[in-house]
Amino acid sequence: MERPDSEKASPGFWKPGAVAPEGLCGIGTGQFDRETEKEDLFVVFNANEKLSLSQQRQRLPIFKNRTHILYLVEKYQTVVIVGSTGSGKTTQIPQYLHEAGWTQGGRVVACTQPRRVAATTVAERVAQEMGSLLGEEVGYAIRFDNKTEAEKTKIKFMTDGLLLRETMLDPLLSKYSVIIASPRLDEAHERSIHTDILMGLLKKIQRKRPELRLIVSSATLEAQKLADFFNTNKTTDPANDTAAILSIEGRQFPVDIFYLKQPTDNYVHAAIDTVINIHKTEPPGDVLVFLTGSEEVDDTVELIRQRAAEIRPGDLKPGSPRSLSVLPIYSGLPGAQQMKVFQTMPKHVRKVIVATNIAETSITIDGVVYVVDSGFVKIKAYNPATAMEALVVVPVAQAGADQRAGRSGRQRPGKCYRLYTEAAYRAMRVNTIPEMQRTDLAPVLLQLKALGIDNVLRFEFPTPPPSQCMMRALELLYALGALDEYGKLTQPIGYTLAELPVGPTLGKMLLKSGELGCSEEVLSIAAMLSVQMVFVYPRDFRNTVDAVRKRFAVFEGDTLTWLNVFNEFMRNNQTQKWCKEHYVNHRVMLRAVEIRNQLRAYLRRYKVPLVSALGNPDIPDATVPIRKAVVSGFFANAAFLQPDGSYKTAKSHQTLHIHPSSMLFNTTPAWVVYSEVVSTTKNFMRDVTVIEPTWLAELASHFYDWKGKPMPKT
Ligand code: CDP
Ligand code: MG
Repeated sequence: MERPDSEKASPGFWKPGAVAPEGLCGIGTGQFDRETEKEDLFVVFNANEKLSLSQQRQRLPIFKNRTHILYLVEKYQTVVIVGSTGSGKTTQIPQYLHEAGWTQGGRVVACTQPRRVAATTVAERVAQEMGSLLGEEVGYAIRFDNKTEAEKTKIKFMTDGLLLRETMLDPLLSKYSVIIASPRLDEAHERSIHTDILMGLLKKIQRKRPELRLIVSSATLEAQKLADFFNTNKTTDPANDTAAILSIEGRQFPVDIFYLKQPTDNYVHAAIDTVINIHKTEPPGDVLVFLTGSEEVDDTVELIRQRAAEIRPGDLKPGSPRSLSVLPIYSGLPGAQQMKVFQTMPKHVRKVIVATNIAETSITIDGVVYVVDSGFVKIKAYNPATAMEALVVVPVAQAGADQRAGRSGRQRPGKCYRLYTEAAYRAMRVNTIPEMQRTDLAPVLLQLKALGIDNVLRFEFPTPPPSQCMMRALELLYALGALDEYGKLTQPIGYTLAELPVGPTLGKMLLKSGELGCSEEVLSIAAMLSVQMVFVYPRDFRNTVDAVRKRFAVFEGDTLTWLNVFNEFMRNNQTQKWCKEHYVNHRVMLRAVEIRNQLRAYLRRYKVPLVSALGNPDIPDATVPIRKAVVSGFFANAAFLQPDGSYKTAKSHQTLHIHPSSMLFNTTPAWVVYSEVVSTTKNFMRDVTVIEPTWLAELASHFYDWKGKPMPKT
């Protein structure tokens, strides 16, 4: 659904529609928003599986650097380590530090990971390597799950969001001797905003605790920037530096770069042609193709397979591989299928891997000699002018393009075919726009306020977000009642919203649900809005699936549909069977149940009445209080119907459409609120709820200074 249609990708390579909107400002959600993480899609490839664990450890590229790393950590407050995925940064450095005594005297080494799954699997691995039980010497802590023991745990893996939360309880993070942070990966949906705040906070903490060591492991080209950020040396003498960079990269072979002479108007077709050409004319070596989204990848795999079937043996050069094995890789793919891309093929087979940006830094595939780069990437961007977050396909940055090219020269000289002109490359921005500048900052600023950082406009971020984004976020927090007119966190709402493990919009919805008499229902909705896509889309059963799905649909909107799905799941004893029959992802549903339980515990603690509107004889239409609760959180995302069937946002009169996956697609309710905007061919609203405009005046008078009528264009 999120993929740009081929029309979008095709006409004109630099089609403005494919370029980030003006004033592009934010990617990604944080831990505090919808989980974009695909749980089943995290694989770790281990080439030395058959060796003993200690032999495996010694084979890793990082092993040669052990002494040097320990020396640098001794000497510098901050060490930035550059090395590609799989070189051993995450599993080995904590052990080296532990062996060298950094965990003595009750101190702990923390290692943050951008994803929950990464934190847990890596903890498991390290526990295994150290021969200890998970949760004892080595543990992990992620939202909703803590496997550490206060006195015993020496090495603690955690998400960066969670470490951020710990700074609220212990502002100097005093129990940690070393913090290893794995910041932003370039994968489009990687959440990393917490890392950026963490960087800012850690820098502040280091000023008060000079003994605190920070290791920033970075797979990107941003090492110098990070080192500069942490270096407090005010003199010109490098002997006074407090930050150093260490590269454990293996040898990089030269890569020949080829550009298109003329821009293509369809990078998918160009990619397919290029792959087929490589196969016909180039010596053995695997091919890696970079595209933007999972559907695009799947379609392209199919098309390449078709084209490959037409190749006659006479078309091939003697001595080159006879057949092609075409494989997809993206973060939505089941683990077993992901593993396939790492398998070594027989000599007569050339492997072609069609990937999203995940293969840029998040995974490393050996044996790639040819890279085909579409030049595009899909990112989540926030536009402060419209206050909308959207998935958009944008040109990669030069840094990204170079990183992609480098994927081909890991074992011998490589070739990179860029499906754009050299002039286009030169026109690209040099670096990827940091997430901090692309995201909805409301959750972030709320956290900072809760940490006692009142002047958020002066907080030192590695890359400061644009002030327009800051102002938008502050305005929203004020309208949510989290800040007072002096910008101070309010008691209790502001503090409560900061503490809840969901974003302030969902948080407000939950807090309000008690007095509206529907907290049990809103808890389920909040849980469903916190997880990734609930429905699965088998490729060949679209019609059946739609028919099954319609059974949950109601006119009041998708949030009510989510509630129906959740309730039915519970009524059917949470079985896998029920999920299968209804094309619902079982794992995701179990996660929703877990999140709901957690949130319910929070509401109980805050003394929010736990009540149900469904089945309450005093409430004739239970959807009314439920939808009002949704409005109390999502009022900023209100839109109203236009004569042509499209919608305009109430605040800034941007045109929007109901997403085809919405149960309300092809219907025309007068007023709606939505959870997020997805930009593909158009700007689509997701998780749509039908509302009465008067509710906006009733529940968000700060935000809309009007009484239920469309506000004049601002
Ligand atoms: O952090 P970095 O990407 O540099 O590497 P790592 O996570 O420390 O992983 C180093 C190696 O450990 C991998 O290449 C795998 O061989 C192995 N590993 C594993 O077998 N299972 C895991 N869950 C994690 C790592
Ligand atoms: Mg790592």
